[in-house]
Amino acid sequence: MTGRIAELRGEAEAAIAAAATSAELEELRVRYLGRKAELPNILRGIAALAPEQRGPTGKAANQARQALEALIGQRAEQLAGGELEEQLQRDVVDVTLPGAPPQPVGHLHLLTATRREIEDVFLGLGFRIAEGPEVETVYYNFDALNFDVTHPTRGRADTFYVNDDVVLRTHTSPMQLRAMEAEPPPLYIIVPGRVYRRDSDATHTPQFHQIEGLAVDEDVTLADLKGTLLAFARAIFGRDREVRLRPHFFPFTEPSIEVDVSCFMAHVPGERCRVCKDTGWIEILGAGMVDPNVFGYVAEYGYDPERIQGFAFGMGIERIAMLRHGVPDLRLLYDNDARFLEQFG
Ligand code: DAH
Repeated sequence: MTGRIAELRGEAEAAIAAAATSAELEELRVRYLGRKAELPNILRGIAALAPEQRGPTGKAANQARQALEALIGQRAEQLAGGELEEQLQRDVVDVTLPGAPPQPVGHLHLLTATRREIEDVFLGLGFRIAEGPEVETVYYNFDALNFDVTHPTRGRADTFYVNDDVVLRTHTSPMQLRAMEAEPPPLYIIVPGRVYRRDSDATHTPQFHQIEGLAVDEDVTLADLKGTLLAFARAIFGRDREVRLRPHFFPFTEPSIEVDVSCFMAHVPGERCRVCKDTGWIEILGAGMVDPNVFGYVAEYGYDPERIQGFAFGMGIERIAMLRHGVPDLRLLYDNDARFLEQFG
């Protein structure tokens, strides 16, 4: 019996030494020391042996079991160490590698961002936002704004007509009348929105955007208009800006002005400024004091031209955005070319 034990022990020792993984080692433990294994069986059967065999057999079997247990323990430690090392090698993370690239997120279109910035300026000055219909009656778009019946922009060549009495609004000014009909003075509103004209070239698209402004109160003057527009110009184009008012004509304001902002481009000596053509001034909008004839159309809503005055202004959002960012062609704003749009995130 001791011969068989020695044989088992030798076989097990060789197998344990050769085990390559912890799992393999566990199988060997079951095979040689498990409940159904031969060596433990011999130990359990000691009592049935002849008395003179019990001593040597028990001793050899016990020694064999202890030796194998110790050997398995050692080998297990060796393997675990190696496996840990291997695992560490496999899982190694190079923390100096750049992280996963951030998912691209969108951002506001340049026009939307510009509109909101302009809105913020006027909200800060106490104006409210009012919006009106893009499909507008001839009455609000022209008649009540004091356009002469012969005014050229009333023609089919300039304006999209839905029918004889309805147009796609050519400007945001008609909302002046709708707002005054809706509530009595004092009134301080801006009107952002789309407008439509039959025009198409590098600086004109058939559809574009304006922001109208209207302030009506009992003591509003041209100086208030100038101060308001100066604050606007400085907020949008930089704090060193000045504004200049030039006489002009609009049917719905009297007097009417065009407003220039001092040029904000870097001027290179000897090179002609693309933007201001070396005049030092850039036209940004039209404005004026509300014509009493316009108030005449809404007198019944509390707008008595003998008692109140108002100023109004209107600007193109595209033009402001293009000036500010040096956009050379208006159509770039509508081409949806991401290479262009991404520059304004
Ligand atoms: N509505 C004019 C346009 O489309 C712009 C404008 C000029 C608006 C003078 C005004 C104003 O309110 O007072 O060109």
